[in-house]
Amino acid sequence: MRVMIDGREWAATAGERLLDVARRNGLALEGTCNGDLACATCHVIVAADWFDRLTPAREEEEDMLDLVADARRTSRLACQIVLTPALDKLSVSLP
Ligand code: FES
Repeated sequence: MRVMIDGREWAATAGERLLDVARRNGLALEGTCNGDLACATCHVIVAADWFDRLTPAREEEEDMLDLVADARRTSRLACQIVLTPALDKLSVSLP
């Protein structure tokens, strides 16, 4: 499967996190806490037509997104997005 990040296509594997795809390809997505929901440095903006297809954010993720200065309606944390075949061609951008 593949994901689109900032308009470029990257290979991905079902079961891995979007954060891991970005890291593997050297993209500017830190993920300092490695998914512990303690940093929000993995903030991405999901394309509007993909947002509702993601598993909804848990309360802990919503709380962390509340602290992100440039959060948008379709903001998510890439460490919390686990890729599935249904998310093939998922499109996000980096803030
Ligand atoms: Fe820290 Fe996602 S890596 S919240």
